[in-house]
Amino acid sequence: MNKTNIIKTIETNGFIEINYPDRLKKVIIRSFVNWKNFCALSKDIKEKFIFEKNGGYEKRLKKDNYDNKETFHTSIPGIKRFDRMKLLKNQTACLFLSDASTILKEVLPILENFTKQVEETFIIKKILSDIKKYPDCLSIRYIHYLPGNNISDIIGQPHVDKGGFTLHLFEDCDGVEYFWKNLWYPLPLNKNKTVLFGGLQLQLITKNSVKALCHRILATKKSTESGRYSIVLFTNFPSKPYYNKSVYGRSQNFPAGFNYTISFSEFTKMFARSKKMSAHEIS
Ligand SMILES: [Fe+2]
Repeated sequence: MNKTNIIKTIETNGFIEINYPDRLKKVIIRSFVNWKNFCALSKDIKEKFIFEKNGGYEKRLKKDNYDNKETFHTSIPGIKRFDRMKLLKNQTACLFLSDASTILKEVLPILENFTKQVEETFIIKKILSDIKKYPDCLSIRYIHYLPGNNISDIIGQPHVDKGGFTLHLFEDCDGVEYFWKNLWYPLPLNKNKTVLFGGLQLQLITKNSVKALCHRILATKKSTESGRYSIVLFTNFPSKPYYNKSVYGRSQNFPAGFNYTISFSEFTKMFARSKKMSAHEIS
């Protein structure tokens, strides 16, 4: 097995930083502004984009046992649904959705490079071709953690993502931390770079070599006052086994780092037959 620097880095550090091409960086920054504008719209407008299986808007609250946040989960099929509903004519509301389409195209070279390294290192076929074949396996989630809380409160519970791998495309303030070697560290925050880390499916197909990275979000001074905006890209692997959430529950229920020391035979029991994950099953 001849490991590339990319694979060695993610195995050693838990994540890798990747430079943005200029065009992608510009559209992500524009998309952040447009997402903020969407969040400022009235409840009535936002709820027209109601969440269904392939994405949409939803607001979740701590009182219901979720993080306090509003999110918009998007994929190409999801955007097409809103297009068919004629909702995309509301320009103010939808600018970030046309940005999402552009991001999903412009990010492909980064995904191609990473998946090629995984395929070659671990002798696995069809990761990228599957993602391309099933467009809802590539999705972007726009997130707005609501203001409030106290500085250093945990506003995003520790968890691992359940799909293939995740790119943190944009954060408007620090506060994301990752758990590694029994300690919490701040995840780098750099407008010129994205952070890529593995989810449970990547840990499975690399036979425990690339760990799904445990991460959490803490409130900062800025987020307590004006909230926290971020943009995250998820991939999932439609032809690989998926984490069996209906049996094992949310990954938030496990202790941080539970998946770092688990034996591979125990780990594989947590997965079921392959299928396309719904938006709620990815993270
Ligand atoms: Fe996550």
